[in-house]
Amino acid sequence: MNDYLKSIKECAEFIKDRFVDIPKTAVILGTGLGKLADDIKDQQIINYCDIPNFPVSTVEGHSGKLILGKLGNQPILAMQGRFHFYEGYDMQKVTFPIRVMHELGINRLFVSNAAGGMNPNFEIGDLMIIKDHINLFPEHPLRGRNIEEHGVRFPDMSDAYSPILREKAFEIANEEGIKLQCGVYVGTQGPTFETPAEYKYFRVIGGDAVGMSTVPEVIVARHCGIEVFAMSVITDLGVEGVVEKCSHEEVQRAAEEAQPKMTRIMRRLLTLEK
Ligand code: HPA
Repeated sequence: MNDYLKSIKECAEFIKDRFVDIPKTAVILGTGLGKLADDIKDQQIINYCDIPNFPVSTVEGHSGKLILGKLGNQPILAMQGRFHFYEGYDMQKVTFPIRVMHELGINRLFVSNAAGGMNPNFEIGDLMIIKDHINLFPEHPLRGRNIEEHGVRFPDMSDAYSPILREKAFEIANEEGIKLQCGVYVGTQGPTFETPAEYKYFRVIGGDAVGMSTVPEVIVARHCGIEVFAMSVITDLGVEGVVEKCSHEEVQRAAEEAQPKMTRIMRRLLTLEK
């Protein structure tokens, strides 16, 4: 067994020993979803720094812990704090938690993020369901020896984002009176926000929004056969003629405002019976 697979299994064993019933559903509490953690009942928490082989997050405003508990009647595993490529982690580290989820038997993953909108119909504060992505990260998370036990060498990506869950999200948003956009997410390494020419380029190649996360995790989840749903909060605009200065604080402010509606949709999706 290679060292990477061994470290994944060791980590999964540790978690299994600590938590008796492991859920089938996991959520990465990215931007816009932080407060969902407060709704999780009967919480059991492990800090990343106490989990063998688990990376530890470094970004301001992102703490690192695994939360296991119940949302409604549904048991879930929540990751508070994720690992970004721009922090300096290699792709194996960025996607390590997803491999561990697979070892734990998780088969459905929900993800949120912040993104800059290139689609001229988007407004700051909109929510966008990700229907597809364009991977522009400079390193591929599946590069190197394939873990046959997890998935095939050349995985299909034709329906990376579950069409069923996307449809459900629209139904929920309709009932809740929440406007939803839907589009293609361009994943880039960051940490710079885009120049106006880059936003234009991403629009021309078919992107609706751009961000610095999610794509590596989704690729690995799909490699392992995990069903995925992902949603972005549009925190700034990269629309030609409307590109304004963008800062981390502005991104956080816009995300904070959109948080209640994002949480409402995700909470209902997460508690769907399978
Ligand atoms: N670009 C990249 N990542 C982002 C952006 C953006 O405009 N907004 C939030 N995350």
